[in-house]
Amino acid sequence: MLLTAQTLHKRFGDVHAVRGVSFHIDTGEIYSLLGPNGAGKTTTIGVLTTLLAPDEGDALIGGFSIRRQPRQVRQIIGVVPQEIALYEDLSATENLRFWGRMLGLRGRTLKLRVAEALELADLQDRAREKVRTFSGGMKRRLNIAVGLLNRPRILFLDEPTVGIDPQSRRRILDTIQRLNQQGLALLYTTHYMEEAQEISHRIGIIDHGELIAEGEMDALIRAVDVHESIQLTLETAPLQPQALEKDLLALPGVQAIRSQGKTLTMQVDASDRRLAPLLAYLHQQGMHTRRIEIHEPNLEAVFLKLTGRALRD
Ligand SMILES: Nc1ncnc2c1ncn2[C@@H]1O[C@H](COP(=O)(O)OP(=O)(O)O)[C@@H](O)[C@H]1O
Ligand SMILES: [Mg+2]
Repeated sequence: MLLTAQTLHKRFGDVHAVRGVSFHIDTGEIYSLLGPNGAGKTTTIGVLTTLLAPDEGDALIGGFSIRRQPRQVRQIIGVVPQEIALYEDLSATENLRFWGRMLGLRGRTLKLRVAEALELADLQDRAREKVRTFSGGMKRRLNIAVGLLNRPRILFLDEPTVGIDPQSRRRILDTIQRLNQQGLALLYTTHYMEEAQEISHRIGIIDHGELIAEGEMDALIRAVDVHESIQLTLETAPLQPQALEKDLLALPGVQAIRSQGKTLTMQVDASDRRLAPLLAYLHQQGMHTRRIEIHEPNLEAVFLKLTGRALRD
């Protein structure tokens, strides 16, 4: 096992940001921590990468303890924080040289590693241009390149796709998968369930500082016992959404519900049996349905079932 985290706790004064988080990552694995804003993802990464000292618990990375051997840990990990200091007036290469020197790399090794990182992050063709001219997506790829300079065994990526356009996001996800195919293990955090679903071997769902479920995608869906969801778009938004939610939740087979404006999303045990009574009830209440969609079970449904809240609240 490449990484094992044992009952990590981290408090900031009264805020208990990480509450007994335990999990492991195998060599060559992509593990995603999926959770809403404030769930404790960044704090977990901070503790694992030795930036923050845990209040309780420990983690071993490559056999080294984050508490007792932080220096050895830092040598075998790469970190890509959400924001990194890039010098806008320096080129990509110059930025990488700067960070490489900070890591203690010199001479030919430094040159080699900078070239290697540029290639891995797919930035060779813009290497000599100033960062100031880069798009948000390119800056993120340069961040990733910085994280690769010390040839890590595991790379920590904290929400690398937030706030960038879909095309750049695609490119970053492709880069991540390519790195993984070359044997790099990754700890990835996101609040986008589609991303976690696409790139991860295993997923840990984190909420309020606790890992509330984990496993492979299919296993998670089975373990949490989620089924399809029915999404109905009404002609007009319900006048009393909370009362409506309560009534619909009382119908047989409806496991969870969320209403947002005209949209009602319900987790149901079997959509073929539950759709007719739902429509009948709404009709009886004088509400007209304009669109009906049925969705396969996904991580959003897992999260909704576990917490009663939507992932993107
Ligand atoms: N340096 C800090 N001081 C005080 N509270 C913090 C600090 N960092 C994070 N927190 C709090 O800890 C909780 C978890 O935050 P964070 O780990 O950043 O979550 P996420 O990355 O999942 O959005 C939040 O309630 C946040 O406000
Ligand atoms: Mg965060």
